[in-house]
Amino acid sequence: MRSSRLLSPLTGILAAVFALVVAQTPQPPPTFDAIFTGQIVSGPTQDALNTTGPFGIRQHAPDTGGNLTDAKTGEVVATLLPTADTGILSNSGMFFPSAVLPYVWKADGKLASITVNGIGNINTGSFIYAHVETDSPTYSWMNSNFFIVRVTVGESPMEAGITMYGVAESST
Ligand SMILES: *[C@@H]1O[C@H](CO)[C@@H](O)[C@H](O)[C@H]1NC(C)=O
Ligand SMILES: *[C@@H]1O[C@H](CO)[C@@H](O)[C@H](O)[C@H]1NC(C)=O
Repeated sequence: MRSSRLLSPLTGILAAVFALVVAQTPQPPPTFDAIFTGQIVSGPTQDALNTTGPFGIRQHAPDTGGNLTDAKTGEVVATLLPTADTGILSNSGMFFPSAVLPYVWKADGKLASITVNGIGNINTGSFIYAHVETDSPTYSWMNSNFFIVRVTVGESPMEAGITMYGVAESST
């Protein structure tokens, strides 16, 4: 009894020190695997609807189609239905892409709704976070994974290239 009473303040201090050390030790950075590549095709610029707001122009610009292809085989796995980007083109030149991208999986005809939000530049490219919702049994694993997408601007300004990365299993 006595020894435990003596020990408890010490144990408390040790626990606090341990908690501090744990809190201040960074976890190793996550690693990402390329899962899909693909294209997003933009519609005519004059069809963009613009709202001038406090941070710049929110541009509802049409995306007419596109696809996702297997990063390893290049085989098309999904096609993009017509939609619109609703990103903000800021006065400083920065671009904040924002869209909900509806895809149809080739494997089973089911849909995926991929919500994307990010930061970059409309002329040079962006990084975006992608949240996937799908009822496809083949791709249901994507509902619980974390994805980032690198958007690159190709030779044609009407066609953006994308590479989608998921957190590698080894780093979860
Ligand atoms: C919106 O802005 C684009 C240029 O970024 C322009 O081509 C287009 O005509 C504008 N849309 C409207 C409805 O004014
Ligand atoms: C994906 O779609 C783009 C744009 O429509 C097209 O240029 C490209 O050839 C397609 N890729 C494949 C592998 O079909």
